[in-house]
Amino acid sequence: MFNISIVSSSIRPDRKSHRLALYFLNYLNENFLANANILDLKVYDFPIFNETLKKQESPSKKTLDFAEKINSSEGVIIVTPEYNGGYPASLKNAIDVLYDEWRHKPVGIVTVSNGPFAGSQALVSLQFSLWKMKTWTVTEQYSVPNIEKNYDEEGNSLHKNISEPLTEAFLKELFWCIKADKNIG
Ligand SMILES: Cc1cc2nc3c(=O)[nH]c(=O)nc-3n(C[C@H](O)[C@H](O)[C@H](O)COP(=O)(O)O)c2cc1C
Repeated sequence: MFNISIVSSSIRPDRKSHRLALYFLNYLNENFLANANILDLKVYDFPIFNETLKKQESPSKKTLDFAEKINSSEGVIIVTPEYNGGYPASLKNAIDVLYDEWRHKPVGIVTVSNGPFAGSQALVSLQFSLWKMKTWTVTEQYSVPNIEKNYDEEGNSLHKNISEPLTEAFLKELFWCIKADKNIG
């Protein structure tokens, strides 16, 4: 089974997008599809970026831990909300602090909003940043509108007839990229 890390990006007290991190954690582990774990940026609580890990003289344990987890993951799922047409500063912090760790990493993007547009603009800005990092973003996206109507606080889908085919298609593409990456690398 693949090791997959799920980055949960929102650090708001009343965050909703974390429901998707829980959804994918449960889906992957309960169906024995992967060894999944959540990298919760609210728990990491990184300071505002001021230097890349490579150039830090005495990096914090949590930065080293995050770097090691991204590095050792065979694939990553990033769950991000949309804030003012982009992705949150918490996630930019976590992306910018690393470099080599992101390179060629298969990454699936999950966007979330509480409105009808499902974080479609955050997707575009995040894809561009990850492209600059030479990350391998998979082409299947998972975009969730109206979060509170579609997933509960424990990460259960409230409309499995809609979510399951989308989940299968998203994970199929992520797994394909992980396998292809292994064959090349
Ligand atoms: C600062 C801020 C900016 C937002 N901007 C957008 C936006 O541009 N587009 C959108 O669809 N929703 C926007 N929203 C609504 C979010 O989609 C909604 O609050 C969602 O629950 C955020 O995810 P979170 O609860 O995990 O932080 C914004 C919310 C916040 C807090």
